[in-house]
Amino acid sequence: MSLSRLLLCLLILYSVERIVSLVEFTNIQCTSLGEDFADFEYCVLKSVNRSFKYISLKVKLFKLPITKIKVNFALLKRYSGYKPFLYNITVDACKVIKNPKYNPVMDFFYSCFKDFSNMNHTCPFDHDIILEKLPIAYVNTKFTAVLPFPVGDYLFQTSWIAYDVNRANVNVYFTLS
Ligand SMILES: *[C@@H]1O[C@H](CO)[C@@H](O)[C@H](O)[C@H]1NC(C)=O
Ligand SMILES: *[C@@H]1O[C@H](CO)[C@@H](O)[C@H](O)[C@H]1NC(C)=O
Ligand SMILES: *[C@@H]1O[C@H](CO)[C@@H](O)[C@H](O)[C@H]1NC(C)=O
Repeated sequence: MSLSRLLLCLLILYSVERIVSLVEFTNIQCTSLGEDFADFEYCVLKSVNRSFKYISLKVKLFKLPITKIKVNFALLKRYSGYKPFLYNITVDACKVIKNPKYNPVMDFFYSCFKDFSNMNHTCPFDHDIILEKLPIAYVNTKFTAVLPFPVGDYLFQTSWIAYDVNRANVNVYFTLS
């Protein structure tokens, strides 16, 4: 087989793999770690019909304005229990919002929800944070463009750290098939 044919085959295989890969969100959990700082009013994964599922959440903030936020995010994959997989990074969120090139992985994460959130501006934050009906299909199109991941059950853990104290966790469970 010529090299160009081989490349073509690989390309086709790759496209097929991308088309069949499907991201299914199965659960979301929001936890406040200090209700004098932050408290979730709601945190839902809702299924309107087969094609329209979304995530909405609202976190009330009591010590405003917030000028320093770090986010830790870790990806875990389920084997017999959830085990760390590929990513576990902590990043200054204010710097990423200001300069996307500061951390491209984090910027990718941010790009998945910023258009559906009032977190769509640079620091500081002087208001409650709302994520309003983030469509799962929207997140899917972002993810399937980069997904070289094996099928399985995953947990995407995020910790929201203000002034170097972890204030809230948002965990999203999803399955790749
Ligand atoms: C699913 O619900 C959305 C929002 O109500 C609607 O726009 C869409 O047409 C529905 N899709 C199907 C397949 O029923
Ligand atoms: C991520 O790394 C931090 C610091 O090394 C560690 O404390 C934490 O447990 C790790 N998280 C996961 C899910 O492995
Ligand atoms: C941020 O989102 C709000 C709606 O949640 C919108 O009114 C506002 O124009 C957006 N700001 C930017 C800078 O995109």
